Amino acid sequence: MVQYIRFLRTPQSDVGKKTVDVLAVVSVTTDLGDAFFSEDVELVANVVEANSPHGVLYSQPIRWQASSRALKFTVHCPGKYVSRPVRLHVTAKEADSAYQSLEIPKILDVWSCIFPLSNKQRTDPIVERRIALSNKSVVKMWEETGDSIARHIWDAGLGFLVYFAQALSTSPVDGMSMLAALFKSSKVRRLRVLELGAGCGIVGIALAQLVKCDILLTDLEDAQEILARNIRCASPVAGSTVRSEVLDWASSLDDSSNANYDLILVSDCIYNPDSSLHLVETLRQLATRTPETLILVGYKRRHTEDDLFFARMRKANFDTVETLNIPLPHIDTDQDVDVPTAEFFAYRIRLSPENQR
Ligand SMILES: C[S@@+](CC[C@H](N)C(=O)[O-])C[C@H]1O[C@@H](n2cnc3c(N)ncnc32)[C@H](O)[C@@H]1O
Repeated sequence: MVQYIRFLRTPQSDVGKKTVDVLAVVSVTTDLGDAFFSEDVELVANVVEANSPHGVLYSQPIRWQASSRALKFTVHCPGKYVSRPVRLHVTAKEADSAYQSLEIPKILDVWSCIFPLSNKQRTDPIVERRIALSNKSVVKMWEETGDSIARHIWDAGLGFLVYFAQALSTSPVDGMSMLAALFKSSKVRRLRVLELGAGCGIVGIALAQLVKCDILLTDLEDAQEILARNIRCASPVAGSTVRSEVLDWASSLDDSSNANYDLILVSDCIYNPDSSLHLVETLRQLATRTPETLILVGYKRRHTEDDLFFARMRKANFDTVETLNIPLPHIDTDQDVDVPTAEFFAYRIRLSPENQR
């Protein structure tokens, strides 16, 4: 499983006689938060000067212990730093080297928001993740520390980043030729892209940082604030644009959905049998308007109910044009030996008189 360092309690500072202490509680867990990392691992808690990502003021090793569920720690910063605006970065050695080599870390590090080394207030329950892409640009993703489905990062989103990197490489592997061809065409014209159920926006924002495109990120109202925040932090390549909008699969499409999309992205959205019914219908309506649209669905298999989505896609006359399994970053442990994968399905609609409505 990919492991995520998460704040269970975001940092809180406390001014002492000689030190300013930063207290926090973290966990090392999966995207669902349903299992904890089962081995000891050395982590580092860095107190970093705000707006100076390399300005580490103070660094303290901390140790995650196998079979624990939470790690409570206090970083004792020298008192001379009192009042400085800082961030707390909790990381693993492995995450730092993955960042340097432009890979997705096996243990994702986490950045708190900015707080002053002074008062006793706890920082907001929102954190940042940074992932380096194959072209060295960095996706900066804010996510919430709570349990919201829309407002944090999921494994399949990381799988998309690997998929994009491979599709952009000089020798894309079999099973991704359609996307590789679209990426090539983006050198001469901007791709028109729609993402459904974008969540925090990691997939679509990464795409805009890699290829020239106009991308519309859509989700429910609930996700719009975090999406807007992440769009503000995005660094699209020259010529790319990123916007967000509410699009509920259960509502009928409005005119803005009439754009002729080259590509529709769907990441980790098929798990709910009730909503996947509406998702397939939304895809059917969009693809009927623009039959050449390529639909790329990526997900991590979690339940047998996931199969319902695929059965519904077949019934709605979608042909699977390519499939590919992407291995996700993984640390082999006694309790976790299977390499997790994100599964990808590229679809095109087969038009029949019935669905040419
Ligand atoms: C597991 S999250 C995946 C988020 C993102 N695609 C990712 O991979 O990180 C599923 C997303 O589907 C969205 N979603 C669920 N039902 C929806 C609906 N009826 N209309 C639009 N989006 C919906 C949720 O709000 C959530 O953001």
